[in-house]
Order: sequence, then C-alpha cells, then structure tokens
Amino acid sequence: DVRRITAPEIRARKGGDPIVSLTSYHAHTAQLLDRHVDVILVGDSLGMVMHGLETTVPVTVEMMIVHGRAVVRGTRRALITVDLPFGSYEASPVEAFHTATRVLKETGAGAVKLEGGRRMAETVRFLVDRGIPVMGHVGLTPQAINTLGSFKARGRDDAEASEILDDARAVAQAGAFSIVLEAIAEPLARRITEEVAPPTIGIGGSPACDGQILVLEDMLGLGARVPKFVKKYAELGPAIEDAVARYAEEVRARTFPGPEHTYAPRAPKAS
Ligand code: KIV
Ligand code: NA
Repeated sequence: DVRRITAPEIRARKGGDPIVSLTSYHAHTAQLLDRHVDVILVGDSLGMVMHGLETTVPVTVEMMIVHGRAVVRGTRRALITVDLPFGSYEASPVEAFHTATRVLKETGAGAVKLEGGRRMAETVRFLVDRGIPVMGHVGLTPQAINTLGSFKARGRDDAEASEILDDARAVAQAGAFSIVLEAIAEPLARRITEEVAPPTIGIGGSPACDGQILVLEDMLGLGARVPKFVKKYAELGPAIEDAVARYAEEVRARTFPGPEHTYAPRAPKAS
C-alpha cells in the first residue's frame, strides 16, 4: 500500500538524503515521475510552458487548480505542492488563507508554495498555524518580474546577498517546511542551507542544497530557451519533431495506416 509523502517528512530530511523534485502539470508525466521523485511541484511556470505566456504574472487560481487536480490524479506517492499564482495571496494573510484552502480542497494536493521573503513571513506563519504546509521561495521570484526588471541571477553582490539571507531566515522562522532558492550565487545558497532549519531546494542554487528541482520540460529538452541552471537529461524536442515529420510523410504517401492498423469486417455469424 502506497502512502503519500507528507510535508513533515520532507521537513525532516534536512541534512539527510537529498530531496528530489520536478515540476509536472499533467497526469501522464506525473505518473512517470511518481516513483522517482519526492515532491512534484505544480509550478505557475505552467503559464509559460503549457499556455505560451511570456511570464507567470497572468496565471490564475483556476489554471493552478485544473493542472493540480490532474497531477494529484496521476500520482500516489509524491507530495504534490501547488504554486499560489500572482495576485491571489499577497494582499493579506486572510486572502492567502482563502486561496490556499481553495487550492488544497479542489486539487487534493498536500502543500502550497508562495514567493517572497520577509514581506511574506507573516502570511507563511498564518497559513502554517492553520494547517496549511507552505514551501517558501526566495532569490529570483519570477512573479515580481515587473519590479525586478529581468530574470537574471540574484545575490551576486554582498548587499543583495544579505537581503536574500534575511528573506530565507524570515520564511524559515515563519514555519515553511522547505524553501526554494532560485537563481542565486552558489556560496549564498550554501550559506542559507547551513543556516536555516528547513531543507533548501535549489534551482540555480548549489549542490549543497538539501534538494534540487527543475522544470520537467526544460530538463527533457522541450524548452525553447532555458536558463543556465538547467541540465538537459534528454532532447525530446528533436525526437518529437522527427516523429511528427515521419508521420506526416507516411500519411502523404498513404503508407500509414498499414494493414496492422486497420480493422477487417466481422465474419458473418453461423445460423
Ligand atoms: O513555477 C515553477 O516551476 C517554480 C520552480 C521553478 C521552483 O516555481
Ligand atoms: Na513558480
């Protein structure tokens, strides 16, 4: 019998076996991941990857719920964590509570993730105290693209590094069960990992982080342009294009479908 990994179990992995995490937005891929990863994130990156948006800013709670449900249905073991999208939680702890409870009730996921450090600490505490496991996310926070101005790496000078360290400390003290560190200088990711109590999950972080996460489509080689921190473990883009080109050729040549792909009439019934 398979039981789901829980947020407290992930929290207890600090300094232990690395936490393996990937994103998924889709039942079939989630099923393939389920035996190999500990945490599946239904990231708001789905806006860019699945829906062709330029940024994650336009992503809605409804989009997160549709994809979150699909991933929960496709899995039995991994902890499913769903991103709260931009504009659905920042105004107040109460707003965040309403959005997070709706997401958990309507998807069956086990946790939510939200972006932001010191400014979100009160909200993280409010949710955790009311039964909602929260994954933090500091460093590059893509929902803030319009104030940040670019997706470049953060914390590469001392002043910015100390801001991000304070952000991570605040989210840790507020009770997050883990913290994503995105696109920050490697020594900073290492230092945060040494200092904070919950496990850190790096993406453009450090091998010293307590876990790692990548966007599935990026590591499979489906992403058009990918950041420096992505390692491609497959090149599915060219493989898919090759399959589609061969199919098109065979349809045009009438060599597909072959006899093995078509149905013979039924023999008449004996009377
Ligand atoms: O939306 C997402 O995929 C994420 C990960 C990159 C951490 O937030
Ligand atoms: Na995200």
